[in-house]
This record gives sequence, structure tokens and C-alpha cells, in this order.
Amino acid sequence: MQLVKPVIAATIIITGLLGLAPLSFGHGDVTPQAVDITGLKPLAKDWLEENPYTKEKTPDQIKRSIEIGCTAYNSNCARCHGLGVVSGGTAPDLRYLEKDAEGDAWFISRVRKGYHQNGTTKMPGFEGLMPQEAMWSIRAYVNIRPEDDDEASVKGTGGNCQTLDYDKVLK
Ligand code: HEC
Repeated sequence: MQLVKPVIAATIIITGLLGLAPLSFGHGDVTPQAVDITGLKPLAKDWLEENPYTKEKTPDQIKRSIEIGCTAYNSNCARCHGLGVVSGGTAPDLRYLEKDAEGDAWFISRVRKGYHQNGTTKMPGFEGLMPQEAMWSIRAYVNIRPEDDDEASVKGTGGNCQTLDYDKVLK
């Protein structure tokens, strides 16, 4: 763990110098966006199969994971999966994933590895591009997006991380 911070710092400096050269994928260019996970309980380096943050008992941790997840989703996933997690048809609507542990396992495997078909990358794998903490935060955010929101109702609100309805999840 000691090594992690200098490595991240060096990566940021190097990518900064290179001007964040976009990686090329079959589905167009994807520039992975760094995710700030300050305030989240750090996870061990082993990959988990279930979302640790939605089991948190402290409202602050749940809220923080959803906040981070919302921002991380907007900058890394919304382009394909839709603003406010309402899919426009390019990629599956993630609100309909199973919300249980099985859904967690499916989610993390897809996000880590992406999806590749006949030599084209339909979805990039995010392993190595964002920490596990960020992936589970995105899952926490996706799970609170109401399934009955349509595209019209999310315009200006669904993608806005400041106006999320935390009361619904923080019982
Ligand atoms: C370049 C477009 C693109 C980006 C960016 C992208 N995805 Fe995907 N994603 C796809 C496509 C296309 C599929 C459908 C693959 C398939 O047929 O199973 C998919 C599938 C998935 C699935 C499985 C859905 C299901 O119904 O089985 C999950 C989970 C997922 N993506 C999460 C994410 C997350 C989280 C991010 C951001 C960190 C992300 N994706 C970024 C295109 C993308």
C-alpha cells in the first residue's frame, strides 16, 4: 500500500504531460477519468464480489459512496449507458441489473473486464484504470436511480450529483 500513492502521483504527472492521450476502442475513443475516492473506506486489494458500501451502517459512508459513484459514472459510463443511468439504447440500462449479490458479482466482472466481441471492444475494461472503490461506488449510485425515470425527467436532474435524493436510501 505504501507504493500506491507515489505511483498514482507519477501516473497523473505523466498523463498530464502527455495531455491524456485518448485510448482507442472499437466504440470510439475513451479517455478514462480519474476518480477521487477521498472519504471512502479503503478496501483491501483482493477483489470483492459484493458491494461493501451499501452494507455500511453509517449514513455518511453510504452518502459519500453514492456521491463519488455519481461523479465517476458521469465521467466514465454515461457516454454509453446514458445520463442519469437512463439508457438511450447504445448500451444496456444499468438500472435493471439485479440488485442482489448475484447482480453485484455480474456488475464487477463486466466493469473489470469490459466486453469484447469479434475483436472489437464494445465496452472497455476498467481494471487498472480506476480503483475497486470507485467501481463499487458507481454500483451504489446506479442502484438508487429510480427504474421509472424516463429521459425527459432526468434532463438536468438525474445527472446532477448535487440534487440526488439521499433521503430515499438513508432510512
Ligand atoms: C464505449 C461504451 C461503454 C462505456 C464507456 C461503458 N460501457 Fe458498459 N457496456 C457497454 C455495452 C455495449 C455493453 C453491452 C455488452 C453486452 O452485450 O453484454 C455494456 C455492458 C455493461 C454491463 C452489463 C450490463 C448487463 O445488462 O448485463 C455493465 C454492468 C456495465 N456495462 C457497466 C459499465 C460501467 C459501470 C461503466 C463505466 C465505468 C461502463 N459500463 C462504461 C458499453 C459501454
